Amino acid sequence: MLSYRHAFHAGNFADVLKHLVQIEILLYLQKKEKPFIYIDTHAGAGAYSLDSMEANKTQEYRQGIERILLLDWPELSNYQDIVRTQKGEYPGSPVIAQRLLREQDHALLFELHPNDGVALQQRMARDKRIRVRLEDGLRGLIAALPTPTKRGLVLMDPSYEMKDDYDKVIDTLQQAHRRMATATYALWYPVVDRARIERMERSLKKSGIRNIQRYELGLQADAEGYGMTSAGMIVINPPWTLLPTMQQLLPRLAAHLSEQSVWRCDEWVAE
Ligand SMILES: C[S@@+](CC[C@H](N)C(=O)[O-])C[C@H]1O[C@@H](n2cnc3c(N)ncnc32)[C@H](O)[C@@H]1O
Repeated sequence: MLSYRHAFHAGNFADVLKHLVQIEILLYLQKKEKPFIYIDTHAGAGAYSLDSMEANKTQEYRQGIERILLLDWPELSNYQDIVRTQKGEYPGSPVIAQRLLREQDHALLFELHPNDGVALQQRMARDKRIRVRLEDGLRGLIAALPTPTKRGLVLMDPSYEMKDDYDKVIDTLQQAHRRMATATYALWYPVVDRARIERMERSLKKSGIRNIQRYELGLQADAEGYGMTSAGMIVINPPWTLLPTMQQLLPRLAAHLSEQSVWRCDEWVAE
């Protein structure tokens, strides 16, 4: 039974980090003419109204995209343009990807929640480059790999509703990497209990996979019992531009979003 609905959280600081990293990677993939594939294992509904009851119940977007749109920093302009043209809705990862796919590129989107899955199918129905599957994204990913093109981004953005989700995603990431080592993999995680993230870090460092970086943005220092204090992205095979871009962007972004200025940017495993 899935109870998580992204509509309550769309545009929050965690989405800001996730979508900035997603955009950087997709823009880098666009640099070569050769087609790429975008796979989203946990795609959500596609876009979310910021006037909805859900968004306004939590108002999380106020300490996220609402503050980002006030900034005039060139590194944010691609993200801001995509959000602004969505008009009143916050674009989720599938809509952001759709905006950055070229004619020759394709996307495969998985969403298990029936309402969000059908909404996503309807939204993407006319786009021949995009397939939406109402299936388990982790199993679907393994079945889909390797893809005909070996260039691509796999975004894994689970809701971590079950404790064993943390182990399951790391296991899937390793299986996926064995099937297609050339793709870029980006795994989102929430920091609710730091020990779980350290466990993911140890597993990945032991896995033999090379070229792994981690990016984190938070609203407050780690503290148990406060829910999600930070959120992170683990990126395997990042474009070489990602680390320098985020190294100069994350500290400023963190200071703009909260007084505590919480961020991390590090290389877990070298190339
Ligand atoms: C954090 S939300 C996704 C947000 C989206 N990636 C974005 O950035 O706009 C996670 C989604 O995963 C869905 N989900 C949970 N378990 C799943 C599974 N095993 N396979 C596919 N989707 C799943 C949930 O219904 C939820 O919509």
